[in-house]
Amino acid sequence: SSADIGVTGMGVMGRNLARNLARHEHRVAIHNRTASKTEDVMDQFGDEGTFVPSESLEDFVSSLTPPRVAIVMVQAGAATDAVIDDLADLLDEGDIIVDAGNALFTDTRRREAALKERGLHFVGCGVSGGEEGALWGPSIMPGGSADSYKRLGPMLESISAHVDGEPCCTHVGEDGAGHFVKMVHNGIEYADMQVIGEAYDLLRRGLGLTPAEISEIFAEWNKGDLDSYLMEVSTEVLRQVDAETGKPLVDIIVDQAGQKGTGMWTVQTALDLAVPVTGIGEATFARGLSSAVVQRDAAADFEGIADEWNIADRDAFIEDVRQALYASKIIAYSQGFNEIQAAATEYGWDISLADMARIWRDGCIIRARFLGDVTKAYDKNPELPLLLADEYFYNAVKTALPHWRRVVSLAALHGVPAPVFSSSLSYYDGVRADRLPAALIQGQRDYFGAHTYKRVDKEGTFHTLWATEERGEVES
Ligand code: 6PG
Repeated sequence: SSADIGVTGMGVMGRNLARNLARHEHRVAIHNRTASKTEDVMDQFGDEGTFVPSESLEDFVSSLTPPRVAIVMVQAGAATDAVIDDLADLLDEGDIIVDAGNALFTDTRRREAALKERGLHFVGCGVSGGEEGALWGPSIMPGGSADSYKRLGPMLESISAHVDGEPCCTHVGEDGAGHFVKMVHNGIEYADMQVIGEAYDLLRRGLGLTPAEISEIFAEWNKGDLDSYLMEVSTEVLRQVDAETGKPLVDIIVDQAGQKGTGMWTVQTALDLAVPVTGIGEATFARGLSSAVVQRDAAADFEGIADEWNIADRDAFIEDVRQALYASKIIAYSQGFNEIQAAATEYGWDISLADMARIWRDGCIIRARFLGDVTKAYDKNPELPLLLADEYFYNAVKTALPHWRRVVSLAALHGVPAPVFSSSLSYYDGVRADRLPAALIQGQRDYFGAHTYKRVDKEGTFHTLWATEERGEVES
């Protein structure tokens, strides 16, 4: 037993994590179901550090120094379950299994509970940053027991991204908390991508700009509040020219967005927790709409634009769109953090929202200057009921408001879909509203189902006897 830590699953993510660990002077056991993949890694990268390759899972386990730490980096679902089962049979009490894939947090909770009974630690661990991140410094979100973090944490922190010397890795909370937070990260990622998409669409249709021109505008935005990796990615994609046709690549790519399911999980879970994540929800539905080929075909000739675009002040419109993007982004994050907060209450996780923002400042896909400001907001007030209530963000949204309202109404008038821009504005107007039409909903529910209502002027639960002529009210 000579290795400090092991990785099974030598797909790109697994091998890159292993190489990152080796580069940081951890001795890394490596294994793959098909042994030739492990050999490939040794051939190509064997001199990057100390690797201990094994052909069998038995040898892999015996090459680990107890208490053993084995990272599983295989496909989520059945494959993960199978490897965990095999590993669990070979491990001893106190050993740690880490699932670094994108697992659904409820699966993680189930696995953690089952393995705990056998004396094993199970750590569901979010890893963000794609293939490059895994290799050079991802953002890492481990859940599981605090005890397991003592052994595992220092190794993960050493390979994570760092900001001002601080690792983008922390113990998120017990059992499934790490995978939960990674899931919300991905949901926010969907919203972040969609708001950039909406801005692009509006600039293109509103001003008739080319993708290359929009790329330049985004590059400018990327120097300010909107400075983020996803903005940088968008800049690169928009200026790419297709070699074959000479057209902008974005015009050649089929406009049907794919998804692997983490955004959908975020929305499904938010519904379970009764947290409105409208930004993430609309972003996920927008991907769904784009891929609904049959419906899009059937609707292709529907009546569209009401007014022709006629923007007099180009720069003012660009600023309007930038402000709408920024405000919608703030809303999406505010909602995403609310979902984490609600889950922490529901599942008894002690999650620091400030730390979540802190470990997302670098390494992950949503890394951005913005997350430094989110960190500050939750550092200042860990009990912040919504990010939007922080002075800095509230002022930003207040400044954005007239721009944002203009953009949303122009989008509607000109028939351009802007689902996240507009639903985020509705959320803002909803959450700040003095009175909501929910009162009428309650009345309707009471009318047809005797579901009762509360009154603004006294305690108790009431029902109106709608069917009687007097329509008197009774307390129930
Ligand atoms: C990350 C990414 C990563 C991956 C998503 C993309 O944090 O590194 O979020 O997890 O890119 O799976 O998800 P979709 O395929 O659903 O867009």
